[in-house]
Amino acid sequence: ELQFFFPREHTLALIKPDAAKKHKDDIMQKVKDAGFVISKIKEEALTREMAIQFYKDHEGKPFFNQLVTCMTEGPSVIMVLTKENAVEDWRQLMGPTDPEVAKETSPESIRAQFAQDILSNAVHGSSDREHALSSIECIFGEIDIN
Ligand code: TYD
Repeated sequence: ELQFFFPREHTLALIKPDAAKKHKDDIMQKVKDAGFVISKIKEEALTREMAIQFYKDHEGKPFFNQLVTCMTEGPSVIMVLTKENAVEDWRQLMGPTDPEVAKETSPESIRAQFAQDILSNAVHGSSDREHALSSIECIFGEIDIN
């Protein structure tokens, strides 16, 4: 089995509130088609504290307050996705941050197909394995996943 050679990895993936309302089923279908196992899932609105924690690298940037508001305005679909190379592969499937760039360079990506604009860009994904583990622990309270 290939998993013997390519160990499973986890990432935190989130469908942002606006897209969770409009495109949840289509996005979930793309997640499954790409071979991710959905190890955990819940739908809930992020608190301001969680959103700030999530995006603390962006604190102080001009879009930060809008970003926190956009992330807390309704329920998100929050998932732990599992497969080999999950962190990188999920970012690949999301596509570039700016949907205009996504449409040019990765028309099959989730952002090319479902993002409104650079802020309401449909999905979030951890940027590396360390962020993945800390966000999973922050949201699900544990990092012990089968
Ligand atoms: P970033 O971590 O750079 O992108 P990604 O979501 O692809 O990891 O940015 C986090 C979020 O901040 C991004 O999804 C949307 C918002 N954002 C803006 O609104 N304007 C911007 O110019 C950037 C760079 C990000």
